[in-house]
Amino acid sequence: MLLGIAVLAAAGAMVLAQQPVTLTVSVDRPGAKIDPIFYGLMNEEINFSYDGGLYAELIRNRTFRDNAQTAVNWSVAKYNGGDGSIALDKVPVPDTALNVALKLDAGAITGSQRVGVANEGYWGIPVKPDTTYRVSFYAKSSAGFKGPLTVAIESNDGNTVFAKADVAQVGGEWKKYSATLKTAKVTPSTANRFVISTGTPGTLWFSLVSLFPPTYKNRSNGLRPDIMQLLAEMKPSFLRFPGGNYLEGPNYANRFNWKETIGPLEQRPTHLSPWNYRSSDGMGLLEFLEWCEDLNMEPIVAVYAGLHIDRGANIVTGDALKPHVQDALDEIEYVTGDAKTVWGARRAKDGHPAPFKLRYVEVGNEDWLNNGTASYDGRLTMFTDAIKAKYPNIKIISTMRSQDVNFKYSRKPDMLDDHFYMTIPDALTRSHMYDNYDRSATKIFVGEWATNKPQFSDTPLLAFALADAAFLTGLERNADVIIMNSYAPLFVNVNPNGRQWAVNLIGYNAQTSFGSPSYYVQKMFSNNRGDVVLPAKLDPLPMLTAEQIPIVTNPTIPRGGAQAPARAAAAPAAPVQYDGVYAEATRDSASGDVILKLVNIQASPQMLSINLQGVSTIRKDATGEMITGELTAVNTVAEPLKVVPKPIVISIAGTKFSHELPAHSVSVLRLKTR
Ligand code: AHR
Repeated sequence: MLLGIAVLAAAGAMVLAQQPVTLTVSVDRPGAKIDPIFYGLMNEEINFSYDGGLYAELIRNRTFRDNAQTAVNWSVAKYNGGDGSIALDKVPVPDTALNVALKLDAGAITGSQRVGVANEGYWGIPVKPDTTYRVSFYAKSSAGFKGPLTVAIESNDGNTVFAKADVAQVGGEWKKYSATLKTAKVTPSTANRFVISTGTPGTLWFSLVSLFPPTYKNRSNGLRPDIMQLLAEMKPSFLRFPGGNYLEGPNYANRFNWKETIGPLEQRPTHLSPWNYRSSDGMGLLEFLEWCEDLNMEPIVAVYAGLHIDRGANIVTGDALKPHVQDALDEIEYVTGDAKTVWGARRAKDGHPAPFKLRYVEVGNEDWLNNGTASYDGRLTMFTDAIKAKYPNIKIISTMRSQDVNFKYSRKPDMLDDHFYMTIPDALTRSHMYDNYDRSATKIFVGEWATNKPQFSDTPLLAFALADAAFLTGLERNADVIIMNSYAPLFVNVNPNGRQWAVNLIGYNAQTSFGSPSYYVQKMFSNNRGDVVLPAKLDPLPMLTAEQIPIVTNPTIPRGGAQAPARAAAAPAAPVQYDGVYAEATRDSASGDVILKLVNIQASPQMLSINLQGVSTIRKDATGEMITGELTAVNTVAEPLKVVPKPIVISIAGTKFSHELPAHSVSVLRLKTR
């Protein structure tokens, strides 16, 4: 996959002995407090993040709305010479939003022949051993249809049936049917299909066909356990949702209209994601909140604010925006209201009586794009006034960036949302970008960031993870102004055409998932936060020329999707030189531990003399983790653990000790003061 990639790192070919560097940490001079919410998640429906990703539903195009002309992802399954045909049919299921059905004409079968409707899933239906799957679907038949239906998970050629069950007599009226399928001790595989078939002639109509494997915490409309486990191990403190561009939508009709994403699945009309595929909206507002609940994350709810990804063609402002301000108030009530409120009662009816905690609301997304800037102050003012009047404690996040210094606010926001998609040199430079930020200016949420250029792989290379870590040291060091941050995007389905945005934190196919080197950097940093920043100084600071920093060239080998738009905010003026080592120190008050985060960008090891001042005792035994590897190394479905952190065990720690940082490495050390 990575053929043709060259890595330029001038000193890369030889291992040079570096001049020792002293890292002095002033343990007795605690500085900025790190907000407990500092590390979190951001994502949206992109790269088959939810449908075909985190959302455990296995049937693709389950309500037949993905393409108005044909039943994409569906085919006719034929057995013993049976023949039939399928077509979309505008036959609604009464009292639901299901307005189109899949019609199966099985009128010609005789004897032992069978035909059925087959779904290919999201690049396959994953079969696992000893696993129970829940099937449900709406169906009706032509008059006089006699037979039962059979549901099955089978190999794509139909020769191997992994699990099957019969569903009782289907009649002439729409009705919901359900069944369970249980596999035996089979070998895991994905080249499989799900089939509903008949052995008796007739015409059948189907709607909302669903197949769920076991889910995280057994939620009925739940999430994939393997991906949730990866997320849980990051210990994220918040989730910013629903987007991103997904909040705005490609146009007004396809904005994230939260009221159409709640309640029974058959009542959700589905909508087009800006990433060119239709969202099933199985991940609706309540599912996002329950995702937060399951991982102990605080929701950061972004509310639709009139802007779409349509180059500013139809920005909603003024009186036309008022219903959407009310939608935002209703949304906050759905999240936080008790069951005596209208929308709190609706949430209770939807299955979650307990309100959720909500402290932050973001108004829109990237309103500096799509000609949004000119109208944003007016729009933000309407939302701020309405939200603060009813919910004075909620903090408002503006989508204007810290660099938009000339933007004039009628209502000062509580926080700004900065986004950066960066090259390696850009990320290294930006690790210092907040050092001189005006300490009295508005606080910042770095709500989307990643080292992701050049863009040619589904998930980050080790080289990108190094730059991510360097950038993160800058965010932590400036924790007095940076309140929280989240890498983006979070997910990618690594199958062909699964990706719309190059370079994403976690990859998967239908069967397995893996964390990228950048995922492990996130995990290392988030699991070792500390609550206060300690002054840390490197002397001498090793410097690298532009030619000496890891740069990946020959980059553009897109896999599975269009190139992402270049939307990084303008970088500070490029320096002539870059830091070769990045160091950041925090203290965890509860344990007393001093935590060091150390990034060696250099192509050779770096010996550090670590000098902890203002602390009487540092125990000899210390622990930590370190990740390193080839600059172009990636993790994949085939090699999910190729680049992972290794434990560090130190037995000679003290107030003064030496520690070597391997070339191209990220280390986190925990030094014990008690
Ligand atoms: O993270 C991908 C996209 O990048 C987001 O949808 C958008 O906010 C940004 O431009």
